[in-house]
Amino acid sequence: METGLLHLHNILRWVILILLLAAIIKSFSARSKPDGSMKKISLFLLIAAHTQFLIGIYQWFTSSFGYKLIEANGFAEVMKNSTQRFWAIEHITGMFVAIVLITIARGKVKKQAFSAASGLYIVALLLILSVIPWPFREGIARPWFPGM
Ligand code: HEM
Ligand code: HEM
Repeated sequence: METGLLHLHNILRWVILILLLAAIIKSFSARSKPDGSMKKISLFLLIAAHTQFLIGIYQWFTSSFGYKLIEANGFAEVMKNSTQRFWAIEHITGMFVAIVLITIARGKVKKQAFSAASGLYIVALLLILSVIPWPFREGIARPWFPGM
């Protein structure tokens, strides 16, 4: 089950990134011409992000790349080691903030406050891009797609 969840977590990243891009583009066009699709995109994005959060929290507590790093090495050691710090702190904190922003943005879309939504979505995207363990990031590299 752990492997399946990790694969799901890997692939859901792409779903979130695509929906987030769509949400940003739509939130700009919706300012002049609102239609129903903005509401749908923001809802699907919210569900994908909340699901990712739930999977991620589970992984953080059960895998060796989260709480167990702190338990085994102590907080001070984890903070000094960039790989351990990424998994124990940076990934979860950055993603948590981004998902809160996506949740707030969904509320803005419901109130048709599209420019506020654009801003929140853009910050969330930048944040997510900065804390994904991209294959080119030294020490924390993970595959582009599950099982690669
Ligand atoms: C620990 C896990 C989760 C937490 C802490 C959480 C938290 C929240 C919060 C705070 C809201 C309120 C948004 C608002 O109305 O202001 C919300 C809404 C929502 N969440 Fe989650 N959520 C979690 C997991 C999930 C999962 C797993 C799903 C779906 C598979 C989900 C789907 C939704 C939906 C559909 C809404 C309402 C969206 C709307 O109509 O605006 N959430 N959640
Ligand atoms: C607060 C929410 C999140 C938490 C707590 C979390 C936690 C984790 C943990 C613990 C791992 C390592 C799993 C392991 O190797 O055992 C991981 C991997 C990963 N996370 Fe997250 N995550 C969260 C949100 C996200 C989001 C929103 C994205 C992307 C949009 C994302 C993308 C990834 C990717 C791409 C991997 C590597 C998957 C692989 O190795 O195939 N995470 N996450």
